[in-house]
Amino acid sequence: MKQVSLTQYLIELQREKGCVSAELRLLIEVVARACKRISHAVSKGALGGVLGGAGTDNIQGEAQKKLDVIANEVLVEANEWGGHLAALASEEMEHPHQIPSRYPRGEFLLLMDPLDGSSNIDVNVSIGTIFSVLRCPEGVEPDEKAFLQKGSQQVAAGFAVYGPQTILVLTVGCGVAAFTLDRELGSFVMTQPDIKLSADTQEFAINASNARNWHPPVKHYIDECLAGKEGPRGKDFNMRWVASMVADVFRILSRGGIFMYPADSKHTKGRLRLMYEANPMAMIVEQAGGAATDGRQRILDIQPTELHQRVGVVLGAKNEVERVTQYHLKQA
Ligand code: F6P
Ligand code: MN
Repeated sequence: MKQVSLTQYLIELQREKGCVSAELRLLIEVVARACKRISHAVSKGALGGVLGGAGTDNIQGEAQKKLDVIANEVLVEANEWGGHLAALASEEMEHPHQIPSRYPRGEFLLLMDPLDGSSNIDVNVSIGTIFSVLRCPEGVEPDEKAFLQKGSQQVAAGFAVYGPQTILVLTVGCGVAAFTLDRELGSFVMTQPDIKLSADTQEFAINASNARNWHPPVKHYIDECLAGKEGPRGKDFNMRWVASMVADVFRILSRGGIFMYPADSKHTKGRLRLMYEANPMAMIVEQAGGAATDGRQRILDIQPTELHQRVGVVLGAKNEVERVTQYHLKQA
């Protein structure tokens, strides 16, 4: 079978469909190269001295792991000199990082969660990198305000999973494709060309330890799933929860399902971050034919007010996401 590399895939999209400009393609390739480096560091584990805490806190007051810091540095370093970015923002940095004046400034803004699933770093469970690309509004300083665009404005979104294989999932607004890292060749090879998500599912993902804090619509939905064949849904549901969003979303893209990290009485605004977790995942899931809401509203329609703002997330199989959203809206 003919192998299609990430570069080839992007050049074909550029030539045949005009979905991606040369500039955006080059930016994505820089991000993909950085992900290869991070994958390499992750795979060394204790032998590379990359496990354990960094002894610092990030802006959200969460203890940083060494790999959080390493992944952030790799992505910043890879991107700042390339000439494609006006600025970049990261979960690990309080304010946007400006491109040093010695480098040319490009037209895009990059947002990233350098190392998603931090709690799984030290236990050899899949982790990843999430990224989102926006256009910097013309004639505007690339400060925090320039980043505060709705998710529907994203021009590209993607994530890497560092698991048994390293996989990159990408959309530039023309469908979703996944690429597996061929470690011998050092290139990402397309392994899932046009990912489509089934509208129905019998598998859900939620952190059940938050059950006592769930709002009634979420509790109602999960109770119905748990009631199985004998309950109102008339079918048995299975449950999966990796606790790395990248791995949970990749599973859903591969075999269907619904993922929820809803706002609850403890996480009143939600747990996940809108701009570099929920938005890129929502774009990918929608591009694959699924849906993504905060329980009430389409995630991609939310107007952000802060770089690091949190949001409730319900995404995956369209009919299930609609059901959860309806339960919330009916409760109003
Ligand atoms: O980035 C946040 C994250 O690591 C997600 O990947 C994951 O879904 C979530 O945290 C798990 O958090 P908790 O263990 O608190 O439910
Ligand atoms: Mn994360």
